[in-house]
Amino acid sequence: MQIQWFPGHMNKTINIIKDTLTKVDVIIEILDARVPVSSSNPMITELIGNKPRLVVLNKFDLADPDTTDRWMEYFRNLEHTLPVKVSSKTGYNLDSISKVCKELCHGAKWIDRREVRGMVVGIPNVGKSTIINALSGKKKVAVGNKPGLTRDLQRINITNSLQIYDTPGILWPKFEDKIVGYNLAALGSIKDTILDLVAVSRHAIEYLQLRYSGRLVARYNFDELSDDSYEILLQIGKRRGCLQTGGIIDIDRAVAFFLKDLRDGKLGLLSLEEPDDMIKREELAKEEKF
Ligand code: G4P
Repeated sequence: MQIQWFPGHMNKTINIIKDTLTKVDVIIEILDARVPVSSSNPMITELIGNKPRLVVLNKFDLADPDTTDRWMEYFRNLEHTLPVKVSSKTGYNLDSISKVCKELCHGAKWIDRREVRGMVVGIPNVGKSTIINALSGKKKVAVGNKPGLTRDLQRINITNSLQIYDTPGILWPKFEDKIVGYNLAALGSIKDTILDLVAVSRHAIEYLQLRYSGRLVARYNFDELSDDSYEILLQIGKRRGCLQTGGIIDIDRAVAFFLKDLRDGKLGLLSLEEPDDMIKREELAKEEKF
């Protein structure tokens, strides 16, 4: 078992997903386009077996478009899987969800007789409710983070060719992977009280140093970028006037400024994971095991 948090909820959810699986044709897995791996649940692939899967890279309006295209290619190469990139906030490309669900069921005997049936799954905060509401035009509101609440599953007609079950499968991320926690916390997808925000910010800054160093320089008017993420935080604090008595930099306020900038898109459209990073992370995890 990979996830130790919230075991009660998890077992309940897994049972709901297993039950619902028998009734649906496709799994609609919602991910945050900026962190497609950190916002996924590794058990999903195991749970769904050969069932066709639509990977929805949501929040595309905030993600690095080039990186998202590389993720699209990555998911296209997985078996039984097709990806789409959408923004449920701006409405961008939402139409593709129903179209690609149909494409995933191409060749099925029933395809000309009835609509495709789908189940939405995803970790909290990836945008499941927003997507369902945007797609259904708020025809149906029974969307909430309470798995197991609705005993009799109801179906929502999204289009003439797509129906979804109204009980979204709420899963949990792979919390014991430190980077997953840092990524989700950096983007505000898990509560700010759970992790040390200095460490979260340092992780994000180190990623930006690697891939988007110019953004840090431009946003904070740095003459040059320090190699040290803590030093960068101190400099952000200094630039933003986060000073305590005696001129000491208030690191917590500096962190708050930085995280707000990151989450509000003030550092530009960015992603905190690349398909290439994942290959390196997998290799590192393997090395650690031996
Ligand atoms: P969930 O059901 O998976 O838990 O996620 P939910 O729809 O509640 O969305 C979580 C947050 O993500 C919400 O923000 C929502 O507005 C935002 N969101 C969802 N999809 C998108 C998207 O495509 N782009 C952007 N930029 N944001 C998106 P919130 O801060 O919790 O609420 P609010 O900002 O709507 O008030």
